[in-house]
Amino acid sequence: MTQQYRITLLSGDGIGPEIMAVAVKMLERVGQQCDLTFDFQDALMGGVAIDATGSPLPDETLSICRQSDAVLLAAIGGAKWDSLPNHQRPERGLLGLRAGLGLFANLRPATILPQLIDASSLKREVVEGVDIMVVRELTGGIYFGQPRGIFETESGQKRGVNTMVYEDAEVDRIGRVAFETAQKRGGKLCSVDKSNVLEVSQLWRDRMTLLAKDYPDVELSHLYVDNAAMQLLRWPKQFDTIVTGNLFGDILSDAAAMLTGSIGMLPSASLGSAGPGVFEPVHGSAPDIAGQDKANPIAQVLSAAMMLRYGLNQPLAADRLEQAVMTVLDQGYRTGDIMSDGMTLVGCEAMGEALLKALG
Ligand code: IPM
Ligand code: MG
Repeated sequence: MTQQYRITLLSGDGIGPEIMAVAVKMLERVGQQCDLTFDFQDALMGGVAIDATGSPLPDETLSICRQSDAVLLAAIGGAKWDSLPNHQRPERGLLGLRAGLGLFANLRPATILPQLIDASSLKREVVEGVDIMVVRELTGGIYFGQPRGIFETESGQKRGVNTMVYEDAEVDRIGRVAFETAQKRGGKLCSVDKSNVLEVSQLWRDRMTLLAKDYPDVELSHLYVDNAAMQLLRWPKQFDTIVTGNLFGDILSDAAAMLTGSIGMLPSASLGSAGPGVFEPVHGSAPDIAGQDKANPIAQVLSAAMMLRYGLNQPLAADRLEQAVMTVLDQGYRTGDIMSDGMTLVGCEAMGEALLKALG
């Protein structure tokens, strides 16, 4: 029997709509092949939502998302909205979505594809074979801790305050996701913190160490975040799965992403303990190339694959999308961000057509 899914599409800003169009076509095609039907519903988030409603995450959007089986997000933000006060910025919509859906676990793979090794700024021997999964805590830490704000002191100085806070239950639940992820991968987990300075990190490290007793098949190690940043660039192959808090994960996942040569290739999954997950590219809305048919739709297609795999438990359909990406790369098609000598430069639409053809 045909399996039916309700998918919320948040195309957002900049290149978002262009890359989303490619992913939707791919999903429709793979759905026909695997007997899945997708009931897509568009909703507003980010700058487009600010323009239409004044809010980056209208209540209606959140409720549409809650009623769906998964949310596919493209990208949000742009210079047009950058001067708005903090609480009205597009980024606030994203943080509100994460909090509103309880998406505490963010999985960000950084895998080097053999076809793109030369797109990396690092030497071939350093990046060849890199396959890292960053598990980032997404609804806590300094992004959400209280107190926060810009306050006036008694002497009339302004004081900006944010609070990095984790409770043990929050560390445990992201820790368990990370240990389980490591179990399914290379069996190595590196927990990243700043416990030489921060008490919140001491707690983090203690809880991870305790949890390790439940996962004897996973080898746990710890690194301070500054050292982890250095090691990622020095010898990334030492990493399998990394688990870290919200802020460190934001920074390290960009660094890990860039090992692969282009951030335009990387998907991510944000999951809660129940309810729909959100699947989105790691890259932003690239307003500088929006509407010019130059965007790379691959991260969006791979995000759709992550949605099938982690959100809808349809690994065969996910495999097909990922295989189509490998095929077009083998055929030599490249968008500008991953272009190299001897390859065929294509725009977003032509890349989409090549992907559809590869899907069969
Ligand atoms: C990311 C982004 C967001 C974050 C911004 C846009 C709020 O950088 O998803 O990594 O900091 O989490
Ligand atoms: Mg980021």
